[in-house]
Amino acid sequence: MDGNGRWAETRGLSRSEGHREGLKATRRAVEFFANRGAQALTVFAFSSENWQRPREEVEALFDLFVSAIEAELPELIERAVRLRFIGEREDFPEQLRQRMTEAENATGVNAGMTFVVALGYGGRWDILQAALRWVREARNGEPDFETFESYLSTAGLPPLDLLIRTGGEQRISNFLLWQSAYAELCFLDVLWPDIDETALQAALDVYARRQRRFGCTGAQLQVHDA
Ligand code: IPE
Ligand code: MG
Repeated sequence: MDGNGRWAETRGLSRSEGHREGLKATRRAVEFFANRGAQALTVFAFSSENWQRPREEVEALFDLFVSAIEAELPELIERAVRLRFIGEREDFPEQLRQRMTEAENATGVNAGMTFVVALGYGGRWDILQAALRWVREARNGEPDFETFESYLSTAGLPPLDLLIRTGGEQRISNFLLWQSAYAELCFLDVLWPDIDETALQAALDVYARRQRRFGCTGAQLQVHDA
């Protein structure tokens, strides 16, 4: 979800106002993907590296996360969305951590789309914590890919099909590194607060035109389809 700051700056607003507008865009995205039957939607809301931003901005973001969880919870429950947070939450303010746990518990039984919010998340952190936990917990043998994946923070989620980055940059910025191995990448020039149904549908249309070969040849896929 990139581009909140630029969206605000071009309007002479504070970056925090950009983040508040970004929250509205997130609401639209959740609605869009839930209505289309997506099994899971993961948004990158705060990266391990975002800790380096000015304290003021970081604190405003934490306040926004607290109020957003409170405000959005009833609607998420209504839509049967299951909320899940991934990332290192240890250093978050206690109030935010509490809200996160409460929201996960309150939506844990929901059978609809899983809405994953990556907070304090980094792809390298995820792989490292999985490796460390495996070393600590697994007693016998070496992990195969499947076992290893069960230690990643995304355990149990479906494979990542489509990764969309808004804001015009073409990089992964330490998002779902392991999980994006065979994801289709889509870069949109739209700033996140401007994201709407048209832009999201355009991303889905791009995705629909891609041929996913997973290392095979095009001919092999045709035999498979026949
Ligand atoms: C992304 O928007 C939102 C968060 C990381 C929370 P940015 O804040 O990175 O916006 P730009 O890139 O400065 O426009
Ligand atoms: Mg940015």
